[in-house]
Amino acid sequence: MTDVIVGLDIGTSNIRVAIGEIIDENTVDILGLAKCPSAGLRNGSIVNIEAAIAAIKETVEQAEQNAGCEVLSCVTAIGGAQIESYNSKGLAAVSNKNQPSREINEADKERALEAARATLIPLDREFLHVIPRDYTVDGVSGIKDPIHMLGVRLETDVHIVTASKTAIQNVCSCVQRAGYGLDKVWLKTLAQVQSVAHEDELEMGSILIDLGAGTTDALVIVDGAPVCSLSIPVGGNLVTNDISIVKGIPIPAAEKIKIESGCCFLPSIQKNQEVIIPGVGGRPNELSSQVELCEIIQPRVEEIFRMVRDEIVHKTDLQRLSGNIILTGGGAEMQGIVELAQTVFGTTAVRLGIPESLGGVESDYRMPEYATAIGLIQAQKNQYKVPDRSSRKTGSKGNNKENFFTKIFKQLF
Ligand SMILES: Nc1ncnc2c1ncn2[C@@H]1O[C@H](COP(=O)(O)OP(=O)(O)OP(=O)(O)O)[C@@H](O)[C@H]1O
Ligand SMILES: [Mg+2]
Repeated sequence: MTDVIVGLDIGTSNIRVAIGEIIDENTVDILGLAKCPSAGLRNGSIVNIEAAIAAIKETVEQAEQNAGCEVLSCVTAIGGAQIESYNSKGLAAVSNKNQPSREINEADKERALEAARATLIPLDREFLHVIPRDYTVDGVSGIKDPIHMLGVRLETDVHIVTASKTAIQNVCSCVQRAGYGLDKVWLKTLAQVQSVAHEDELEMGSILIDLGAGTTDALVIVDGAPVCSLSIPVGGNLVTNDISIVKGIPIPAAEKIKIESGCCFLPSIQKNQEVIIPGVGGRPNELSSQVELCEIIQPRVEEIFRMVRDEIVHKTDLQRLSGNIILTGGGAEMQGIVELAQTVFGTTAVRLGIPESLGGVESDYRMPEYATAIGLIQAQKNQYKVPDRSSRKTGSKGNNKENFFTKIFKQLF
């Protein structure tokens, strides 16, 4: 494993790159970051390869300059409509070959996971992750790690994530044609969980919601492992579109007003500021207000949250979710977003998903929009044994979640 990991987040509106140096098992230094406008994507899917390649290249080059190092390969993530997920089971007889007792070892675990994976999936799809949720040994369930237990019959419950082959091929092709190797493709929300979630809330059952520009993705985690992932093909772009139509202004002007003065929860507006709507084609500017803007934004964001909520209610057992709703992605930076989510989901347990503190200039990446790029570095790091470089002097902080995530993510394949 190289000691530099590059997280590449190819989004509908922005491409972000984070370059992280792995100092030791618990420490990552963020060496450099870059964010550039995206091109060639619609609702999270690549629709113009050449445009996407150029945008990826530009962002990686900028990150290389900021970090002062060369990027050879990266890890990236996909989400959106290209993803499907379901739960499955695998069963294996515990082998007593080459050992006196039937003690469960890695090979038995592998065989149980292989069996879970042996489900038929359409030819145009491929496995992205097979995530063990828990194990049952001779009828005793709820076992997180069965290694060294004695038993005859090993069962595993897994969460399987598949992706469209074409989507993965398009991502690979773009990254490789931009001149970089591709180490792995992660489910976007699974990478985000790594950087923004805490062990206790995942054990209690939590929902991560990524509010992007073209898609809104969610991952439901129960007992520390994913049970359901979903995606809705709408995001912040739709809100911008609404402002553009209602106010009769071009999209870039509507986006600027949304970011500077937008709020999505009426009671959160303390002082009703004036908002200047620029005149188009020589028309004079128009005066509006933050309240008026909120009346456009709130119903749309509320609708997006309702769609996510209804799908989660349909697919999972809400009784098992007593942790938090964690909001990430650029859309989570909108004023009033936490309060609106609290209202729609009927709980006060809502918070912003800000990447945890690592080494490097924290103010540059501790924002919900960097959850994917930073999470990719952590996800990739937790998969491998990190070389012991403890003798090195560093000025970075440790990552205390290491043990928990290492446990879950080392088992992914
Ligand atoms: N401060 C802000 N207030 C309101 N909205 C914001 C703010 N900052 C960013 N956004 C919105 O967040 C969205 C972009 O989020 P993000 O960069 O996470 O999306 P993306 O990764 O490019 O898209 P996707 O994940 O859907 O492919 C845009 O709709 C943008 O308007
Ligand atoms: Mg995104």
